[in-house]
This record gives sequence, C-alpha cells and structure tokens, in this order.
Amino acid sequence: MGGGVSEATSALPGPVPVGILDLAVATGHHVLDLDDLAAHNGVDPAKYHVGLGQDAFSVPAPDEDIVTMGAAAALPLIERHGVEGIRTVLFATESGVDQSKSAAVVAHGLLGLPSTVRAVELKQACYGGTAALVAALGIVARDPRERVLVIASDVARYDLDSAAEPTQGAGAVAFLVGAHPELVEIEPASGLFSADVDDFWRPNDRSTALVDGRLSVTAYVDALLGSWDDLAARGGPAPHEIDRWLHHQPFTKMALKAHRAWGKHAGAETSDDDLATGFTYNRRTGNSYTASVFLALAALLDLDDDLDGRRLALFSYGSGSVGELLTGIVKPGYRTLRRTDAGSVAATLDARTPIAVGDYRALHASHSGPGSASSLDRENPRVTTGPFRFAGVTGGARRYERTA
Ligand code: CAA
Repeated sequence: MGGGVSEATSALPGPVPVGILDLAVATGHHVLDLDDLAAHNGVDPAKYHVGLGQDAFSVPAPDEDIVTMGAAAALPLIERHGVEGIRTVLFATESGVDQSKSAAVVAHGLLGLPSTVRAVELKQACYGGTAALVAALGIVARDPRERVLVIASDVARYDLDSAAEPTQGAGAVAFLVGAHPELVEIEPASGLFSADVDDFWRPNDRSTALVDGRLSVTAYVDALLGSWDDLAARGGPAPHEIDRWLHHQPFTKMALKAHRAWGKHAGAETSDDDLATGFTYNRRTGNSYTASVFLALAALLDLDDDLDGRRLALFSYGSGSVGELLTGIVKPGYRTLRRTDAGSVAATLDARTPIAVGDYRALHASHSGPGSASSLDRENPRVTTGPFRFAGVTGGARRYERTA
C-alpha cells in the first residue's frame, strides 16, 4: 500500500447490498375530516372521497412544524438502533422553516446525535426525500460501516377556498439507510426524468404553494413514463417482474391516473386495486410531500403479509419537476420488524384530535395573515402531545424542546 493511504480507508470492505434498515412515521396533532370541509364548501363529499381519493388531512398544532414531526418520526429509530454508524442526517422538505439553517441541524440536536454527524437539508418539492435516499445509498456504498438517518417531513398548505385546499396534509417519515438492510434492499438501477415546468411552486414570500393542479397531473404522468423508459433503457425489470407499485400521492387519485397511464404505455395489465394498500395512510394524512411515497411504503410493509422477496417499484415525483423510479426487494423477516410495534401508525392516526373547520381556518390564517411573520418573537401555546414541541421564537430564532 502506497504512503498516504490511511489504515481506515484502506480497510474499506467491498460492495455490499444497501437499503432501508427501518422506518417510522409521525404526523400532526389535529385531523380535519373532509366530510366537514365538503359541508363547509357546499360540495358533494364523494368529490373528495372518490374524485380525489382522500378522506381527511392532518393539521399541525401551533407548536408543531416539520422539525417536531421529523424528530418525532426519527426518535423510535434512534431508540431501536442507537446512533452507532450514523455520520449523516439528511432532512428533506418543501416546507423549510429557515432560509439558511437546516432543519437537519435542529433535528440533530433534538435527537442527541453525536457531533461527528453531518447535517443537511435537501429541496426539490416532493422529490427531496428520494434525493436524500439516493444520496444516502451513495454514502453507504462508499463506506458500508456508515448509516444515514433520512428524515422527510412536510406541511402541505394551499390557500383557503382554493381548488387544492382538500389536498393539503402533513406528515413525516424517517428511515435508516445502511448495508445489509433488514427491510428493503434498493436495486442499483433507477430511472430519471427532469423537466422545467411550472405546475407547483412556492415563492420565498409565501407560506402556501401556488399550483396548476391540472398541469401537475400531466407533468406527473410524463415524469412516470419518462422514468420508466429510462429505467428500461438501463436494464430495469420488465412489467411482470414488478410485484407492487408505490407512488408519490399528492392525492391518491393522481397516483391511480398515473398507474393507468403506465399500464397503457408499458403494455401491462393494471387494476386500481394494485395501489389500494399503499393508499391506506395517505388517504388519512393528506399530502405529506417528501414523506408521501415513504408513507405508502410504510403502509405496504405494515399491511401486506406477502412481501417476502417481492420487488417493489417506488415512483417519486417532485413538481417543477423531477421524477425517479427506484426498485427494491423486500427482505424476508420484514413482518417481524414492522410488527414489533404492530398497528402503531394506525394508532397514531386514530389518536389525532379532530379540528372543526372554523378552528382549522383560523390556524391556517395564522400562518399567512397579518402578524404571521415566522421571525416574530412569541410563545406558542402548549398543544402537541408529541415528543418535541416548537416552543416559540426569541430574538428571531426558533426554540424547540423535548416534551417528555
Ligand atoms: N362524485 C365523485 N367524483 C366527483 C364528484 C362527485 N360528486 N364531483 C367531482 N368528482 C371528480 C371529478 O370528476 C374529478 O375526477 P377526474 O379527475 O377523475 O375526472 C375529481 O373529482 C376532481 O374534480 P375537479 O377536477 O372538478 O376538481 P377541482 O378542479 O376542484 O380540483 C385538483 C382538483 C385540480 C386536483 C385540485 O385539487 C388541485 O389542484 N390539487 C393540488 C394538486 C397538487 O398537489 N399538485 C402537485 C402535485 S405534486 C406535489 O405533491 C407537489 C410537490 O411536488 C411538492
């Protein structure tokens, strides 16, 4: 060995399987039932339940945000696996709370991670969580002794009384990426599709997104078909070699439309039932942007008992736009791992406190109305029952605390 190569780097092991070791979910304190919103808007509730494929959405309490939800999702992973090997925390979000300081650094502190951990925030609309996953896979492939904590957390907020209002939501998924994964091994090839399109964006002075909903449907389908073609060109699996599909779900009907279009494009037979299990949690949380496709993964791993050795296709879409189609193989034994806290996601969703439409509208307005600037000093009311809270702002800096 030539001089200058340290023992630490020269001892790196060869290529190993990499993927997701474990994942966990958190969401907002409140839930708004779409029946109530339909009544308020004078709309047939079937438009929301059937037309959009959504039943409810999570609404964060005033002392919750992407950081508290993201750290709450990550906490059980740290409790189950410890911090050994973690040298990176990647925080993906569309709804960042600071233009400079990353939410990853704040989560790093709340979770008590060692100082020898790099912390970074990633952004490309809803695609950011998948960008973080791919970056994490690269870090682990470079040194399989390392683990990466990925946190995807978002609050999807559109204007009150807009067409997009019923497709709001909130949620976070955290997952550990490492070598010899116990949940899902991610295969090396992926399909990519990027195109500059104004289907959804959020200028720096807005707390609500601007969206051309109909354009976003066609842009999403274009990205799925483009990603499929790219994956096929790179030696990806044939349609019949894919056992389950998971999609980003701005609203679940969007994923159905895209899946039907893929079936026609790829010459594959599809059924709307193909996606139903993966819709289970998203129908109840609403759009969670970067977390959405991983919430679908959590639902599938929790609720489908026949996944041993099955190949999943996971399609991520971020408006603007970037699409990526990954595939992965579910590891035998996933059931044991996911069933250790059986029903915990369902219990979390059941435990949310219903919010009346009037209270939801007041809370929504407090984020964008007069006096809502996020840097104004304040004490936030104590509402959340989660493990972390956004206590308030002092000297322009956000203060967070552990609640228990
Ligand atoms: N019973 C059953 N179905 C009914 C119905 C009824 N009584 N009334 C209407 N419907 C159906 C309609 O037929 C329609 O279904 P199809 O699309 O299958 O035809 C569906 O309900 C919706 O009806 P409309 O199209 O009339 O609804 P709308 O115009 O009020 O709004 C929307 C729909 C444009 C999708 C709007 O909700 C929207 O803009 N949502 C946001 C979309 C979005 O998030 N885009 C970004 C995607 S990517 C992302 O998540 C962002 C990111 O990257 C961070």
